[in-house]
Amino acid sequence: MRVIGIETSCDETAVAVYDRDGGLLSHRLHSQIALHQAYGGVVPELASRDHIQRLLPLVRAALADANSGPATIDGVAYTAGPGLIGALLVGAGFARSLAYAWGKPAVRVHHLEGHLLAPLLERRAPAFPFLALLVSGGHTQLVDVADLGRYRILGETLDDAAGEAFDKTAKLLGLPYPGGAALARLAESGQSGRYAFPRPMLGRPGLEFSFSGLKTAALVALRASPGDAAARADVARGFQEAVVETLAEKTRRALTLTGRRRLVVAGGVGANRSLRERLAEVAAQCAAELYFPRTEFCTDNGAMIALAGCLRLMMRGFEPAPADAGGLELGARANWPLEDNVQQG
Ligand code: KG4
Ligand code: ZN
Repeated sequence: MRVIGIETSCDETAVAVYDRDGGLLSHRLHSQIALHQAYGGVVPELASRDHIQRLLPLVRAALADANSGPATIDGVAYTAGPGLIGALLVGAGFARSLAYAWGKPAVRVHHLEGHLLAPLLERRAPAFPFLALLVSGGHTQLVDVADLGRYRILGETLDDAAGEAFDKTAKLLGLPYPGGAALARLAESGQSGRYAFPRPMLGRPGLEFSFSGLKTAALVALRASPGDAAARADVARGFQEAVVETLAEKTRRALTLTGRRRLVVAGGVGANRSLRERLAEVAAQCAAELYFPRTEFCTDNGAMIALAGCLRLMMRGFEPAPADAGGLELGARANWPLEDNVQQG
């Protein structure tokens, strides 16, 4: 079973080929960061147009790298949601046309399922079941993963996602978009404890998060600070510690509640070193094993989509589902709850 995966949900165009036996055979990615940087955030229309231009060369390159062609590909997987609708429609239209032309099944992949399964791309891969902390630019969720396709959201953010809070605070600090990684670098040289940041929702039971207040706290701290480089680094440090501590404590509670012995961290913020270190301590406290994808597969990529598509197709078997019998229904959804993730045809 060999699947080509196509990711276009936001500002990365990515294509990969995954083989059940050979593992990841190739992965290619074009980042649109330079395109959106001048605007301080993703401009959806520009994103869609750029995906159109990048897809075909990336597909050709990924196939060539994998020494594959239509004859050796068993399915075409694509991110069907959630994400920017225009960007999703480009990927969906492209992928389904390819599947139709090649006479192969098309597989709709849920973007967050891709993130959740990304650690399976690593040599040291988690077995099911596990608890996942999914922290990306659009989502922050604790998910109980009983098995492939069996997901239960235990808690999520009530307002901003963790990555969104990183990006917004980075902007306040004058860092270029997307600011998460840059803020993390700045925080390394900052002093702990100089500015007081709240620990949102820690005083309450439950597994919900709230991060929108932290950027306000950052703004207040910046206004009160002398504005020099050291003060900015201290604000970054205080902000990061508040996010990391909140994520770590809720994750600890979720591990205790579920009794799971494997913890997966996935999504762009999962690349954050301080978060990984803190989660390693939490996992050790709870006698759980910690798993995460390599840094480049924490953020959006095609490899996780090809992998998720391959696993879904294996579940379904080689016979195309009825929806795929020549179907050109795009099936893209800007909003698509993870727990609905049943029918993937
Ligand atoms: O998963 P992802 O690539 O895209 C979404 O599906 O949203 O996540 C992107 C998010 C951005 O908000 C970015 O700033 C954040 O991940 N991010 C980080 C780091 N690297 C990326 N946040 C904190 N520390 C990092 N090292
Ligand atoms: Zn993502």
